Amino acid sequence: MNVRELMQVAPVIPVLVIDDVASAKPLAEALVKGGLRVLEITLRTPVALDAIKAMTDIEGAIVGVGTALDGDDLKRAQDHGAVFAVSPGYTAELGKAANDISMPLLPGIMSAADIMRARDGGFKEVKFFPAAQSGGPTMLKALGGPFTETVFCPTGGINVDTAKDYLSLSNVLCVGGSWVAPRSMVEAGDWEGITALASQCMSLK
Ligand code: 3PG
Repeated sequence: MNVRELMQVAPVIPVLVIDDVASAKPLAEALVKGGLRVLEITLRTPVALDAIKAMTDIEGAIVGVGTALDGDDLKRAQDHGAVFAVSPGYTAELGKAANDISMPLLPGIMSAADIMRARDGGFKEVKFFPAAQSGGPTMLKALGGPFTETVFCPTGGINVDTAKDYLSLSNVLCVGGSWVAPRSMVEAGDWEGITALASQCMSLK
């Protein structure tokens, strides 16, 4: 799947921070059961790569890496089974590294200049990060003026109540967020609760 296709699988891409690798499989199962198949596992904990590997066993799950900062991150994640990558920002080096290993990349942008640099690298599907803190839906509407071909996955500070405002924009294909898998619910093993939050996302668009 290319990035645009990945962005259209479901209205929400859960952004996951996994502290305990034992929670990886049940968490992925719970999210997929609720309808959210595209999962972003952030490289922010020591077990992140093992969690990616574990989640690839779950039928229906499309597992990617988040917080990818450089080519090494992309390569390590790909070696552990990640099939796409998300980065908080964009550099030409990262774009080239992704192309070199054929890793679909959803790079982060926060400004018109960022979008132009990503476009120079061939990236017209981008993550708007941090979305709420950087102007939210009104900013995306404004960016839609000059950048008619670019589509966005806003992420950062979004919740179930604000997601609709983003998803109603024509240049937004999906949103990302951690609210669907709160750390407290993961720690408590509340998989049914997480499935319920995922199901709620499916009716957003
Ligand atoms: C992140 O990379 O931290 C994501 O943007 C998630 O943001 P959120 O926790 O505000 O949803």
